[in-house]
Amino acid sequence: MQSEARVPDTYPQPRVLISRDALQSRVTDLAQEIERDYRDADPIAIGVLKGSVFFMVDLMQQVDLPLAVDFFQTSSYSGTHRGEVRVVKDVDLPIRGKDVLLVEDIVDTGYTLRTILDLLRFRGAASVRLCALLDKSAAREVDVPIDYCGFEIENLFVVGYGLDYEERYRNLPYIGVLESEDEEE
Ligand code: IMP
Ligand code: MG
Repeated sequence: MQSEARVPDTYPQPRVLISRDALQSRVTDLAQEIERDYRDADPIAIGVLKGSVFFMVDLMQQVDLPLAVDFFQTSSYSGTHRGEVRVVKDVDLPIRGKDVLLVEDIVDTGYTLRTILDLLRFRGAASVRLCALLDKSAAREVDVPIDYCGFEIENLFVVGYGLDYEERYRNLPYIGVLESEDEEE
């Protein structure tokens, strides 16, 4: 039982890029901004599964507003369909007339967010804003405006606080870089 639960040797310990304390303090700042901006709105916070979950839980608990919460799940194709994003799980709640705050872990190429933002506008959201914990702007291929940004990071593959490498590391309380990724840079 114990040996099954251990992270195998092929999954090394990541190097800390953004500490737990730094994350928590930035999340508090973002929550205050959001609370101030949405005071007179009818907000619905929508997270993108699975990566945004850890960030979303911490953030939303600090926003003292009666907001609704929902989730999308998306999946990206690779190869010749690169840039095409499939909605795997749609939101449950109606969007028309709502002030939507989209919450995402990271904006990389921008294809995922571009697709979701367009879909929310098509459904008649009154407003749509984006809150992203991480912005990897050097990797951007389509323009996506970020209204609330946690941290801008270099073009590195990061894990932790919701972000995974082959479904591992999501539960790390910090953002880390796998050393093998560092060496490839
Ligand atoms: P996009 O390229 O902006 O569409 O990014 C879509 C998704 O790729 C993000 O929501 C993440 O789930 C994943 N992703 C992008 N960069 C990283 C990373 O550095 N670590 C882990 N997941 C990532
Ligand atoms: Mg994601």
